[in-house]
Parts: sequence; structure tokens; C-alpha cells
Amino acid sequence: MHTIFEKQNFKKLRALQYLNKYLYRYRIRLVLGLFFTIAAKVFAVVAPSLVGDSITEVNRYLSDPSANFEQTKSILIQNIALIVGAALLSGLFTFTMRQTIINVSRFIEFDLKNEIYQHYQRLSINFYKNNRTGDLMNRISEDVSKVRMYFGPALMYSINTVALFVIVISYMVSVAPTLSMYALAPLPFLSIAIYQLSRSIHKRSTIVQQYLSKLSAFTQEMFSGIGIIKANAIEPTANNKMGALALGSMSKNMHLVQVQAWFFPLMILLIGLSNVLVIFIGGSQFINGQIELGTLAEFIIYINMLTWPVATVGWVTSIVQQAEASQNRINEFLGQEPEIVSPKDGQKLQSFSITFEDVSFSYYEGREEVLKEVNFTLESGKTLAILGRTGCGKSTLLQLITRMYDVSSGIVKIGGIDVRKLNLNDLRNHIGSVPQEAFLFSDSLENNIRFGNAEATKDEIENATKQAAVHNSILNFTDGYQTVIGERGVSLSGGQKQRMSIARALVKQPQILLFDDSFSAVDTQTEETILQHLRSMSFQSTTIVVCHRVSSAKNADYILVMDQGRVTQFGKHESLVNKPGYYSELCKKQLK
Ligand SMILES: Nc1ncnc2c1ncn2[C@@H]1O[C@H](COP(=O)(O)OP(=O)(O)O)[C@@H](O)[C@H]1O
Ligand SMILES: [Mg+2]
Repeated sequence: MHTIFEKQNFKKLRALQYLNKYLYRYRIRLVLGLFFTIAAKVFAVVAPSLVGDSITEVNRYLSDPSANFEQTKSILIQNIALIVGAALLSGLFTFTMRQTIINVSRFIEFDLKNEIYQHYQRLSINFYKNNRTGDLMNRISEDVSKVRMYFGPALMYSINTVALFVIVISYMVSVAPTLSMYALAPLPFLSIAIYQLSRSIHKRSTIVQQYLSKLSAFTQEMFSGIGIIKANAIEPTANNKMGALALGSMSKNMHLVQVQAWFFPLMILLIGLSNVLVIFIGGSQFINGQIELGTLAEFIIYINMLTWPVATVGWVTSIVQQAEASQNRINEFLGQEPEIVSPKDGQKLQSFSITFEDVSFSYYEGREEVLKEVNFTLESGKTLAILGRTGCGKSTLLQLITRMYDVSSGIVKIGGIDVRKLNLNDLRNHIGSVPQEAFLFSDSLENNIRFGNAEATKDEIENATKQAAVHNSILNFTDGYQTVIGERGVSLSGGQKQRMSIARALVKQPQILLFDDSFSAVDTQTEETILQHLRSMSFQSTTIVVCHRVSSAKNADYILVMDQGRVTQFGKHESLVNKPGYYSELCKKQLK
């Protein structure tokens, strides 16, 4: 039975080999578990033989008129005491077996989740762009719990089955070899049948799982987009789609239940067959005086004891297959190396000018370049405004400075040093970056700002929020700075979110500040106020502001205009305002 199991799964176990290090880590507990299992089985096997013994004893007493009643009685009482004692010990060891092996599986689950989470944290932004959040979540939760089943139940039942088989079968053969052969004959069929059934169950349940994730992805999207659905009155369409998905899911579930329903009937049929064989063959052997009556009873108990372990062989096989598929998926992610890594002995930043030298960049090799031969220098402490149509590459340019991506060709330098030679953490610690999409965590407003600088004092936080012109808005919330976002329906307007996000960057007091279209939801007045605050600060960060308003751009030291990944204009407001081009047109439109 075990060879079928091993051969078919030999190749597939390879993914699971990754986990051997965890087996090694918990080897002592596992060896203990093995010991407990064997002990539990040894004591479990004692009971049937004592039952057999007792029946034989009673039979002897009944068929022998000269037998001593008191002697028989004391043997029976002794047997009963032993049965109870053995059952208690077997139960105790079964308990400790579960406590060791199942606990190990929980420890490994914990370790594996931590390992995956830490690896996720190391991976670069591109990984997150290419993989869906749901997928990341699934691999760390669903897949890990499938793998846990391999360490827990699968391992435990395997040890259990092997131990029981070795002990029971060797004992049975020693008592009555011929009867053993007949009694055990149906078991291989049971094992094969259950293995086949488990495979089919596995296949069908995989499909059920796929439907389930489709269904939950759909629901999730519908709930996030509920505003759009209601505004366009497309609830009926959404309902129909949901209905179709749910129907598909149900029919696949029915498909699964059809094979699952065979499981127990098949088991009972084959056990019944074993029992009939034992009674028939054993009965005739008893009549012929070849075996004791007790042996017959004993064997019926053994057969029933062996049934469940045999059934688990098929079940364990399917657990191992699922664990293997899951571990494969986990290994896929664990095998990915972060694209952006901090160099060994990376340099620390001393000065903060920003230089682009012939920088070209495309997100994927061979695709069209998003930045084309970009050249400019921004001296330390100066301000640069970047303007240009949507999609011309402004955000991409900023992401090269924080080294979310590496250039395809050319060099980005900060303080005269190639960013790829800088210590990555040090680089990012010196940059305050306000992304295009403001994101707030469901935490208090204060903690949201603290993400920028964990050690910030209350004063520093207030300073930052005042500069970002969000201090008064925060005080308007009932709980002020302690207001928790998402709790009791607290949510912020787009402009408030943007200003919170700006405060988070400012509280860091960084040497480099990057604003990616961070004023799009803020009115012109407020935008100018915030920029005015920045200019009046005693310390001047090197600042890049991606914006759309001439009113914000004109006070910058330099203005850079981009078009389809190229720099088309660069200079001061005064020199660009009258030159024909994007900037002067924008001035004409906006300053009218
Ligand atoms: N993660 C990405 N993967 C592939 N292409 C991208 C990615 N981000 C942006 N792009 C593409 O790069 C171009 C420039 O985008 P972006 O820098 O966001 O422009 P802007 O900020 O000026 O609106 C666009 O054509 C956009 O579709
Ligand atoms: Mg952008």
C-alpha cells in the first residue's frame, strides 16, 4: 500500500523537501511523537488479545464440566483490569502523540508564515505590481494551512498507520497465519479504491476552490465598486453575474459531493467483506479445531482496527498532494529575489544634489521606453517643478530617485553618487516622498503621521501638520490627533488625505522632498500656502514638485517640462514664460 503511495508521489514531494529544515528543527519533538505513537499502538493491540483470551476461557469453562468456576472468574477479572489499564495507557499516549506531532505542525505553520511575510517585505515594488494582493494573501494563509496538514494530520496518521500495521499484522500472523491472509486480503483493494476516490475528490475540490476564489474576488470587487454600481443603476447586471457564478459554484460542489458520497459506503462494504471472510474461514477453522474461539473474536476486532488506518492512506495521499501543490506556489514566491537590493558596503549620503545623466527607462525589457535620455541637475537645496501631460513619465522619474526601480541605461546620482552604490535604507531615510495616491492606514491620525518618523515629538508632529495646512482639520475631528481612520465611519476627503500624506513626509525633516502631484485635490490657495511654508523653512530640502499649476511652478528655481518621456524644456520661469512651448501656453491659459 505504501509503495503505491510513495511511487506516485516521489516526484511531487520535491517541493515539500523545502520544508525538511523545519522537520530538522523540531526533530526531538518528532522523535518523541514517534515513540508515543508506537506506545499508544502497542497498548491498543493488547485489548483484543485479552478479549480473545477471555472468550476462549469462557468457552473452555462451558465445555469442560470439571472446570473451576472461581479460577475462570479470577482470570476474567484480571483480563478486564488489564483491558482497562491498556486502554487508559493507550489513550494517554494517543494524547501525548497529538500534543507533540500536531503542535509541531503549528510551530512550523508559524515559522513558515513568518518566513513568507519577511520575504514579502524584502521584495521590490515590481513584484507587488505583477501579483494580485489576493494571491499574496492566499499563499500566506490558505496555502500555508494546507502545508500544515502535511506536517500535522498527514504525518501523524502515516506514523500511526505504519506502527499499527507492523504491530497488528505481525501479531495476527503469529497467532493464525492462514486466517490472517484471508482477513487482510480485501485491505489492499480498500486502499486502492480510497486512493482513487481521494484523487478524484482532490481534483474536484480544486475546481470548487477555484470557483470559490472567483466568487470571492467578484464579491470583493463589487463591494469596493458599489458606488459606481449604484450610480449607474447596474445592480441587476451585477446580480445576474453573481447568480451565474454562484450557480457554477454550486454545480461544481454537487459534482464533488457525488464522489464524496462513495467514501463511507465503500469503506463499510470492504470491511464487511473482511468480517465475513474472518467469520466464514475462522468459523470453519474453529469447527475443525484449528483455532480457538477467542482468536475468531480477536481477529474481527483487529480487522475493524485496521480499517480506518487503511482508509487514511488514501486520505493522507490527497493531503500530501495538496500540500505539495501549495508548497509549490509558496516556493514560487520564496524563490523570487528582490530586484532592488542594497549594495554591500553601500555609501551613505553626504550631500543632496540630484542628477540625471542620459537616463532611459522602461518597465519591462524590450518594451517602449517611458523615459528617454533624461538629463538635468538640481543642486542641493533647490526646487524643481515638473510639468507635463498625464502619462509623460513624471511619476516614473520620481520613482527612480527613491530607487523603486533601476534605470535601464544612464545614471541617477544623488550627491554625485550613483544611487545603485548607496545604502538603500540610508537613501530612503533621507527622502520624504509624497505619492500620487495618498494612502492612510486604519490607525490614528497621529500614528499615520508617525509612519514618517517614529521618534517624532508632539511638537514636531504639530509643526509638520501646520506646514501641510492640515492641523486645523485634524482638530475639527472629535478625537483630534487620536481619531482613528475607518472607525465609526471616520473618513477623510481627498484633499485631507493628501495633506496628511504631505505632513507624513515633512515630519521626517528629509534632505530630499518629492511631491508627486500631491496637490491635485487641494485648492490653489492651500497649495500656495503649503509651498510658501516650505520656502520659509530655515532648512531647505532639495525639492521636486510634480504639479499642474503654473502658480505653484513659477516660484521654483527650475521648471522642467516633459513630453512622452523626454525633457522638452528646462529653465527658470522668466526664461520659459515667453518661449513658445508647453509652458508658455500653460501660462497663457492659467494666468489669464
Ligand atoms: N508599473 C508600471 N508598469 C508598466 N508601465 C507603467 C507602470 N507605471 C506607469 N507605466 C507607464 O509609464 C508611462 C508613464 O507613467 P507615469 O510615470 O505614471 O506618468 P505620469 O506620472 O507623468 O502621469 C505611462 O505610459 C504608464 O502607462
Ligand atoms: Mg503620475
